[in-house]
Amino acid sequence: MKNLDALLHHPASPLQLIEHEVFSRSDLRLFVKRDDLLHPLISGNKWRKLKHNLREAERLGYSKLVTFGGAFSNHIAATAAAGEAFGFSTLGVVSGEEIGAVNPTLSFARQCGMNLIFTSRANLRNYSETELLKLLEIEHSDAFILPQGGANCLALLGCREIISETVAQHGFAPDYFITACGTGATLAGIASGLTGESKALGIAVLKGGFLNNEVEKLLLECFGDKASNFANWALQNDFHFGGYAKWTPELIEFINDFKKKTGIPLDPIYNGKAFFATFQLAMQGFFPAGSTIVLVHTGGLQGIVGFNERFDNILH
Ligand SMILES: Cc1ncc(COP(=O)(O)O)c(C=O)c1O
Repeated sequence: MKNLDALLHHPASPLQLIEHEVFSRSDLRLFVKRDDLLHPLISGNKWRKLKHNLREAERLGYSKLVTFGGAFSNHIAATAAAGEAFGFSTLGVVSGEEIGAVNPTLSFARQCGMNLIFTSRANLRNYSETELLKLLEIEHSDAFILPQGGANCLALLGCREIISETVAQHGFAPDYFITACGTGATLAGIASGLTGESKALGIAVLKGGFLNNEVEKLLLECFGDKASNFANWALQNDFHFGGYAKWTPELIEFINDFKKKTGIPLDPIYNGKAFFATFQLAMQGFFPAGSTIVLVHTGGLQGIVGFNERFDNILH
């Protein structure tokens, strides 16, 4: 029996009020849901997504986790850390064609005891998890399989808890929950937990406008004909800065300035873009006066070291 108590019964992450003129002058109240503080190594939406998956793995008697991701993946790092913390061995199938096998994310995963197998980015994109394991001749009958980004129905279940936790802390339901979107699972989970008039807004960090379909697909897969009950969400596709992991000096300046003013660090891949978008939307008058906004900090801070290594320490 593994001891998953710390994962299953964690204290609520803090809800931090941000005092900033961009919001106060429009009669808006902005809070950050500090999921980045849930755990030093399994942070943000990774904690939420892994929670019920690890419980299920334990319930089914698995002691090994297999998962998939890019070479700088927060999900790979978090799964490796969760394996070490909660007594699962871990295997990561990682896209390794461009940068080889060495970077801070992968070194961290190895330190946590994760075995890494490399394959092309095309393989990760084109094959299902089980197809890819077969192609790579990885025996996996003894392993619990987590999809890329940890995006499955059990992940949605964990992410929807952000809502009940926030409502309990806040005393009433905020008007908006905002999150960065990669696979769309965090947004789908949040959308499925909304109460009253609350809305969920996802900020797409990838170009292409395909995330709407992904969120709909996830909701349908996980809730079947009840999916249409969870319609109070929308996506913003104007803040990807050119695509996944793309950035501009304006984004970096925003992240550095936000940290200086609030003490809250943001990664440039996900939260930097979501927070930047929220400020822009507030300045554009997107939120009705009097609104309360909860920006979910989804973690991802492990990526900063690798980013700074590549880009001359531009993040402070
Ligand atoms: C730090 C961080 N924030 C947000 C996201 C986006 O979450 P999702 O893939 O559920 O849309 C990810 C990727 O999973 C992430 O690593």
